[in-house]
Amino acid sequence: MTILVTGGAGYIGSHAVQRLLRDGHDVVAIDTLFRGHARAMHLLARAFPGRLTFIHADVADRALVEGILRARGIRDVLHFAAMAYVGESVEEPLRYYRNNTLASLALIEACDRAQVERLVFSSTAATYGEPDASRIPIREDCPQHPINPYGASKLAVERMLADWCASRARAGRPVAVACLRYFNVAGSDASGLLGEDHHPETHLVPLVLQAAVGVREAITIFGADYPTPDGTCVRDYIHVEDLVEAHIRVLGALRPGEWRAYNLGTGRGASVREVIDACRRATGREITERAGARRPGDPPELTADPGAIARDLGWKARVTSIEDMAASAWRWMLAHPRGYDDGAGGA
Ligand SMILES: NC(=O)c1ccc[n+]([C@@H]2O[C@H](COP(=O)([O-])OP(=O)(O)OC[C@H]3O[C@@H](n4cnc5c(N)ncnc54)[C@H](O)[C@@H]3O)[C@@H](O)[C@H]2O)c1
Repeated sequence: MTILVTGGAGYIGSHAVQRLLRDGHDVVAIDTLFRGHARAMHLLARAFPGRLTFIHADVADRALVEGILRARGIRDVLHFAAMAYVGESVEEPLRYYRNNTLASLALIEACDRAQVERLVFSSTAATYGEPDASRIPIREDCPQHPINPYGASKLAVERMLADWCASRARAGRPVAVACLRYFNVAGSDASGLLGEDHHPETHLVPLVLQAAVGVREAITIFGADYPTPDGTCVRDYIHVEDLVEAHIRVLGALRPGEWRAYNLGTGRGASVREVIDACRRATGREITERAGARRPGDPPELTADPGAIARDLGWKARVTSIEDMAASAWRWMLAHPRGYDDGAGGA
């Protein structure tokens, strides 16, 4: 079976491509390479000869995507492609609505015309905004009130998918959709082939590891006076391979006409200080901290209640220790201190 993976050259998408290839599927990966890595695609194509087709294109190109879906008889789509930086989305909101919302609309139209049967969408905890403290850990029925254009651009896609799914069921041509709301993804695949290499990097674990490897001088802690046990913000980190496993389970479970949403996290929070200490233990290196001011829009705590996917599909994160996540990211970073080093970079 051939599966379409959008954003397949990115951090999470490339890990998903690898897992699908390992499971025996053929994969078509589409990516603009705006933030993805041609090198990741080359490595995977070499490891799985003849099984990966990489298309350097934008998912907004509806005719092209529809043509690929039809030509390959594709029934399953994993949609990772997006811009995913909160701060950038506040600076350039229209770019986010164009690239995340409008491009997804084009993709959905292509899927509709080409009779795709299952679509799994990378949504985000950012669709919840700043939930009331009484709603943490966050369940899927927590009201979604995003506080930045990134979260809003993703929530709009969730709504389009829900409406599409309902209309197709009414028309007797059911399609199944899952929106997976990720919390903070970290770590690298155990084989050491793939890793996290963002330009610019905004995720805490790789930023701290960059301070350990000497790529940056120090790690800044933005606010140490939050109402949390050690005063720093608490987030829910999930290992990338656990995240990919959840996609595989969901894809296998989706039945025609279903629309599902699941939170993906471990259910346990780690504070910024705990992450830094875990990285110190994982690397055995000194890591210099700097105190910074709070950033607007950073809630004190965001953790998932992953109970729904555990009950429905028996999925639970296997890696629950932030130190283990940091150790897996560190192995790749030590071997690739300059990342994939293929010249990819943000605009
Ligand atoms: N990394 C996280 O912690 C996290 C958390 C929540 C949600 N997510 C979501 O997961 C998905 C993957 O995130 P990631 O961390 O791997 O990001 P990433 O930037 O590494 O990967 C996204 C990929 O999509 C590609 N892309 C972007 N727009 C495209 C378009 N219009 N057409 C084709 N390709 C396009 C980029 O070039 C990149 O390779 C995103 O949708 C993101 O919103 C990530």
